[in-house]
Amino acid sequence: MTAAPQQLDAIVLGAGAAGFMAAIEAGKRGKTVVLIDHAEVIGEKIRISGGGRCNFTNINASPKAYLSENPKFCVSALARYTPRDFLKLVEKHKIAWYEKTLGQLFCENSATEIIEMLLDELAAAGAELVAGARVRDVHHADGLFQVATTQGEWRAPKLVVATGGPSIPKIGASGFGYELAAKFGLAVVAPRPALTPFIFDDELRAETGKLAGVSTEVAARCVGSPVFREAGLFTHRGLSGPALLQASSYWRQGQPLTVDFAPGRDLGAELIAAKAATPKREIATALGAGLPHRLADFLASSVKARGTLADASHAELRRVGAAIGALDLKPVGLEGWRIAEVAAGGVDVRGLNSQTMEAAAVPGLYFIGECVDVTGWLGGYNFQWAWASGAAAGRAI
Ligand code: FDA
Repeated sequence: MTAAPQQLDAIVLGAGAAGFMAAIEAGKRGKTVVLIDHAEVIGEKIRISGGGRCNFTNINASPKAYLSENPKFCVSALARYTPRDFLKLVEKHKIAWYEKTLGQLFCENSATEIIEMLLDELAAAGAELVAGARVRDVHHADGLFQVATTQGEWRAPKLVVATGGPSIPKIGASGFGYELAAKFGLAVVAPRPALTPFIFDDELRAETGKLAGVSTEVAARCVGSPVFREAGLFTHRGLSGPALLQASSYWRQGQPLTVDFAPGRDLGAELIAAKAATPKREIATALGAGLPHRLADFLASSVKARGTLADASHAELRRVGAAIGALDLKPVGLEGWRIAEVAAGGVDVRGLNSQTMEAAAVPGLYFIGECVDVTGWLGGYNFQWAWASGAAAGRAI
């Protein structure tokens, strides 16, 4: 005999960063809540985040660091649950933290401390956590959502979907949030892997493959993106590193990737000065004065800089400097969901209330976190969106 569905105030699907925050905030307000996840082990994405130290927020989080079809959608939630609010929680639990760079806050010791903190807060808020529960059916009738799983059935007037995006499927990530949105008639902006390395075609790879492991400061941009000035790293398949991961979120198939390999420098002027000092030096060798040598050779060949400095006119040296400062590379694609840090796109925010995350067309249904079309830059912004959107929904249900 199957047990009768348990009736509660709210069901939260997906026990990641966003789902935890929603369940905690709702529970603190006296709501009866169940937090359901299909994974047996809870919090895996948090555990592997930030290289095991969880870059849990960014003190500079502001709407400009997020991509969305409606860039203003995130304004309200981010303003009402700020990085300082999350930091207060971290400090309440005596978790040691530090600022690594660019406002990025990390755990001093381990990301598991964040998971333990969320579990403690959830228990204190009186919410129930059910792990390893595969969802069999979700439907809505008579003002109640009913969720049937392998671990039981629940009914509630509010359903919060926090099932994240499809990146890193081997730890339980899925596109289930998009399926649920479609089932309830909500639009979904086509999801695409973001914060993920670029892949080059065979021809370019034949050139760059030998640079695998070379890291240098670059400024990278794609059509419509800001310029990201951080490290770039050649891989066997293309180009990675923080600057490139950032640019990847904006990249679309067929578009160029533009990389400045000498950011902040006037390479043309440097080459002209080098010509005066060492005219017999090869241009490629002169470039090697400020760049890794293998990279200098690749760049010289890419911009067709041949011969000695003395052979080149000042105009030619300026052209070489400018070309290296804006090298158009033509990626054939991005590494996909297997290693993408987040999904861009997702449940269309134009169908959601920005104060509460509730679907306009389906009262009582909420979407939060990564499954929504709000995608942050690298550096703690995505967790901050998960906390903020989770808090917005949790306080509203
Ligand atoms: P999240 O994916 O965390 O949680 C979704 C939950 O739903 C999962 O527990 C999943 O098991 C569950 N679920 C999925 N389908 C289900 C179904 N059908 N039924 C039931 N449950 C289901 N961000 C950042 O700000 N700082 C960082 O340091 C990092 N580092 C990082 C490293 C790596 C390797 C990755 C892949 C990602 C990051 N990120 C990050 C991104 C960050 O992890 C991500 O943005 C948040 O975890 C999103 O939180 P959500 O709660 O929305 O989804």
